Amino acid sequence: MSNVRDILKTKGSAIFSVTLQTTVNDAIKLMAEKNIGALLVIEGDTIAGIFSERDFARHSARRDLRLDGTLVKDVMTSRILFVSPSQTTEECMSLMTTKRIRHLPVIENDQLVGLISIGDVVIKIIEDQKFSIIQLERYVTGEA
Ligand SMILES: NC(=O)c1ccc[n+]([C@@H]2O[C@H](COP(=O)([O-])OP(=O)(O)OC[C@H]3O[C@@H](n4cnc5c(N)ncnc54)[C@H](O)[C@@H]3O)[C@@H](O)[C@H]2O)c1
Repeated sequence: MSNVRDILKTKGSAIFSVTLQTTVNDAIKLMAEKNIGALLVIEGDTIAGIFSERDFARHSARRDLRLDGTLVKDVMTSRILFVSPSQTTEECMSLMTTKRIRHLPVIENDQLVGLISIGDVVIKIIEDQKFSIIQLERYVTGEA
């Protein structure tokens, strides 16, 4: 069964982030430029939160949002869940679906080593299932 380390091997460990003082306007621009749905919010050595498309959508719905006048710190999600590289893709999918989150930072030995999305997890689970099907077909047809 594959794990978070396997996902990071494919997608790499680059992390796109902003700071607490970044404006929502700049954060949205960065997400569009990188074609991603979330940004980690980092202050010094600390992960302060995560700013996602959903945070933006919720905030926009609540009030008349001024993109250039609002800071990420005012709209981000501060309570973040993490995973470790050894956690399985199934564990991640379970966490993401039960907690209704789409991005998980990856922490190893107190260090941030990556970030995975629900799309990454779905792709890996489908890959694993395809591999299992091929193995089973070979077993059934005696090709193994
Ligand atoms: N069809 C499906 O089964 C399915 C499942 C999940 C998501 N989706 C859709 O696919 C699209 C992409 O979703 P997604 O879950 O991949 O999210 P995403 O668009 O945020 O992520 C795209 C890629 O960028 C990476 N990424 C995102 N934010 C990052 C950051 N801050 N730093 C470094 N890397 C970062 C992710 O790990 C992923 O590899 C969405 O529109 C979503 O609704 C479809």
